Amino acid sequence: MTDQSKALVQAQFGANAANYATSSVHAKGASLSRLVELVQPKANWSALDVATGAGHTAAAFAPLVASVIASDITPEMLAEAKKIAADKGLSNMTTATADAEKLPFADATFDLVTCRIAPHHFPNIEAFAAEVTRVLKPGGTFALVDNISPDASTTTGFADAALEDAEKAYNAFEKLRDPSHGRALTTGEWQDVVLDAGMTITHIEHQPKAMDFAAWCKNMSVDAPTTERLTAMLDNASPALQSFLQPTNLYGKRSMVLSELILIATKDA
Ligand SMILES: C[S@@+](CC[C@H](N)C(=O)[O-])C[C@H]1O[C@@H](n2cnc3c(N)ncnc32)[C@H](O)[C@@H]1O
Repeated sequence: MTDQSKALVQAQFGANAANYATSSVHAKGASLSRLVELVQPKANWSALDVATGAGHTAAAFAPLVASVIASDITPEMLAEAKKIAADKGLSNMTTATADAEKLPFADATFDLVTCRIAPHHFPNIEAFAAEVTRVLKPGGTFALVDNISPDASTTTGFADAALEDAEKAYNAFEKLRDPSHGRALTTGEWQDVVLDAGMTITHIEHQPKAMDFAAWCKNMSVDAPTTERLTAMLDNASPALQSFLQPTNLYGKRSMVLSELILIATKDA
C-alpha cells in the first residue's frame, strides 16, 4: 500500500471513527449476522478480523471462537474496537495494528480470517488476498463482505459498455464522498482474485444494503458543496447505474441501495 493512500485512509477514518462505532450499517447490518451464520465458527478457532474498523465483526465472532484479533491501520478505529470489546466483556478479543496488505502474523496462524466492508480501500487486492492465504491454516476459512461495483451479476439487461461506464461512475461517486475509497471490485473480479490466491470458493451471495443518502454523507462528514455534487450525480445517474443504485427521492429524502458481496472460501490444503 502506498504511503499516500495509507495516510488518506488514516485521515478519513481517524476523523470519523466515532461515527463508525455507532453506524447501524456497520454495527447491525444484515451481512454481519449472515456472515456468522454462513461461517459456522468453532469454539476452538483462532480468528483474525482485517480492517476491523470499530470492531463490529470481531465482536460478533468473539463469543463463538477461542480468540479473535481485531486489526486495522487506523489507531482511532482500534481505540473504538477496544471500547466495544470492553463494553461487551469480550476478554478474548484483542487489537493489533496491521496493514491488510502486509499482515504482521506468521504463516498458517488462523482458522478464520474475516474482512467486512473494507477491501474497497486497499490499493492492492491481490496482495491482500495473498496475505489472507498465507496467514490461514490449510483448510482455514476466509469470510469476506464488501461493497461491489455493478456487473452483469447484479445489474441485468445492459450492454458491457454501459456496465463498464456504470462501474466507473459508481466508484467516482464513492470516491467523491470518501477520498480514501480505492475501487470496489465486481463479483467476477473477486472470484478471480480469491481463486488465484489459492482458495476455493464455497459460497457467494449478494446482500442489498438500503442507505439513507444523508446519513451516508454524514458518516464521512461530507461538506455541503460536495453533498450537492453527490446529489447531482445520483439524480443524473445513467440507466445502468440507476438500475444498480435504485435511487429514490421521497419529499427530498433520498435513499439508494448499495450491494454487498458475501463470499466464503477455504484455503486449499
Ligand atoms: C468501513 S471500516 C470497516 C468496517 C468494519 N470491518 C465493520 O465490519 O464494521 C473500513 C476500515 O478499513 C480500514 N483500512 C483501510 N485500509 C486498510 C489497510 N490497508 N489495512 C488495514 N485496515 C485498513 C480503515 O482504517 C477502516 O477502519
